[in-house]
Amino acid sequence: MQSLFGLEGKRILVLGGGQGMGEATVRLLASLGCHVAIADRELDRAERVAAEVGGLVKTLPIAVDVLDDAALVAAVGRAERELGPLDGMATVIGMAGWGSLLEMEYEAWDADHRRNLRYFFVAAQAVARLLKARGAPGSIVCVSSIDGARSAPFHASYGAAKAGLMNLVKTMAVEWSAYGIRANVVAPGAIITPRIPHLGDAEAGAFERVPMLRRGTVDEIAKAIVFMLSDMASYITGQTLAVDGGLLAAYPIEMKEREARKGVIGGV
Ligand SMILES: NC(=O)c1ccc[n+]([C@@H]2O[C@H](COP(=O)([O-])OP(=O)(O)OC[C@H]3O[C@@H](n4cnc5c(N)ncnc54)[C@H](O)[C@@H]3O)[C@@H](O)[C@H]2O)c1
Repeated sequence: MQSLFGLEGKRILVLGGGQGMGEATVRLLASLGCHVAIADRELDRAERVAAEVGGLVKTLPIAVDVLDDAALVAAVGRAERELGPLDGMATVIGMAGWGSLLEMEYEAWDADHRRNLRYFFVAAQAVARLLKARGAPGSIVCVSSIDGARSAPFHASYGAAKAGLMNLVKTMAVEWSAYGIRANVVAPGAIITPRIPHLGDAEAGAFERVPMLRRGTVDEIAKAIVFMLSDMASYITGQTLAVDGGLLAAYPIEMKEREARKGVIGGV
């Protein structure tokens, strides 16, 4: 299995590796023998994850705020120097600001673009420059959202930034394939995370629009990220993989979906 993924002995930088999807990605990479640099604004989180997988592989916890361009580029350089030549990067950091478009302040728009789109450009450019300088291939994966592929009511700036990631990897694919660098997006649907935990019974029925009738887990996102990082995806670049239990594919008219599920109608 390990040789199928081709990640044994490789080195990957995970931005936001201190909890949730990033932590799950670090754990899965380590289980496949991949060394990991774990960058997070909360150093204690990165250190905890590093300690927990440190028996399997080399780890490097790094404290960085990805909103600081110079610090972010320095963190990429540090990972390359101290962990060893990087083979790729996964970035999971992102968050939505909420509010109506009519009321939205310009600063709120910019904040969503900085913490979802801009930092990924800065980090990916830094990693790609290192790979190109060494003449080494690599894989870069970012986490978007299915809200970048449809409307994002009351979180428009987030949706636009996440859509930007989907477009940006296409350009990276075209410009960087010459250097053997792949770039892809994983787009989660509704996922249980430390910030949005499972609500138990209170959650029952809340995800009926999801064909698989449940939220996803951080491990299910990590599997898609690691797939894109690995040799299993060796001919895939510029793509977005939705990991959403079928939500993007769902039939748009709620009643028909419900009735069809009960076998009342067979479809249109
Ligand atoms: N939860 C969902 O349902 C869902 C759905 C679609 C997309 N997403 C996307 O999934 C990704 C992960 O979301 P999450 O809520 O699990 O993440 P999170 O808030 O748990 O953050 C992950 C890690 O990133 C670190 N971090 C945050 N800001 C940072 C910064 N400026 N610099 C360095 N580190 C920073 C945090 O300390 C944390 O350890 C995001 O991109 C989000 O937009 C989530």
